[in-house]
Amino acid sequence: MPRLAYVNGRFVPHRHAVVHIEDRGYQFADGVYEVVPVFYARLIDEEAHLDRLERSLSELQISMPKPRKIMQMLSAELIRRNQLTYGFIYTQVTRGVAPRDHKFPKAARPSLVMTVRQMKPHTEAELQRGATVITVPDQRWQRRDIKSISLLPNCLAKQQAVEAGAAEAWQVDPDGTVTEGSSTNAWIITADNKLVTRKADHSILNGITRLSLIEAVKAAGLEFEERPFTVEEAYQAREAFFTSSTNLVMPVVRIDDQAVGNGYPGILTMRLRQLYLDYVTGAPGEARN
Ligand code: PDD
Repeated sequence: MPRLAYVNGRFVPHRHAVVHIEDRGYQFADGVYEVVPVFYARLIDEEAHLDRLERSLSELQISMPKPRKIMQMLSAELIRRNQLTYGFIYTQVTRGVAPRDHKFPKAARPSLVMTVRQMKPHTEAELQRGATVITVPDQRWQRRDIKSISLLPNCLAKQQAVEAGAAEAWQVDPDGTVTEGSSTNAWIITADNKLVTRKADHSILNGITRLSLIEAVKAAGLEFEERPFTVEEAYQAREAFFTSSTNLVMPVVRIDDQAVGNGYPGILTMRLRQLYLDYVTGAPGEARN
């Protein structure tokens, strides 16, 4: 069965899915994106992802390419046509096609591209190994809350992590506080069992996994604080983990050359992962009310 993508009004085989060379996404990274996880052929937190897409677009004065209901129909159709059970839908919206000129074009219509990717869930062995993280300076712009397709600093950070044998790079502001990973949000659990993650202002992307986990954490009555934490504090943390649509809740066992806790995935982290899974699969757990 050929993998299908949706490109500006048409479903096309993935290998023939192309955009114009003067698309402003291609020339200026003038666009935004969303990655929506799919579990059991069902989109997770679709409304929240669409809310963030709308917000990112409005911050850049790009209009929604289609009404929300149509976007939802297109996603459902892509899942159906690709028989996607586990993976994600990638949605990208750019300002559209126009002769190259920095200022906004008057007439361009936003481009909409949607693709799917199958993904295997992390195995138990992968989870038990956990992830290692390095820290790198945060080289990004000051509107990290916008889910812009301009990801060059994130790619450089991730590549640096890979070359160091790590899974993720935690980016650090000049004041020594961790902002977030190159494609994930960063969390620690302090020695007195407090969950800490950075407040979602302009300094980070407000992850949808982050938001859902916060709901689950509150419902479970766990102690939780939204504030910046330093690299030093992360080294001393009892547990650490990162969240994203493709990783869900991933334990961190090492940060730079420091083992986190005893160097194994934390007990509370694994419990949070289960809380989140209960939430996304609709299991009758503590996470749902
Ligand atoms: N990345 N921070 C950054 C910089 C991200 O790129 C992402 C997501 C997150 C987590 O957000 P969410 O929980 O909504 O996935 C945080 C996606 C998955 C990506 O670029 O592939």
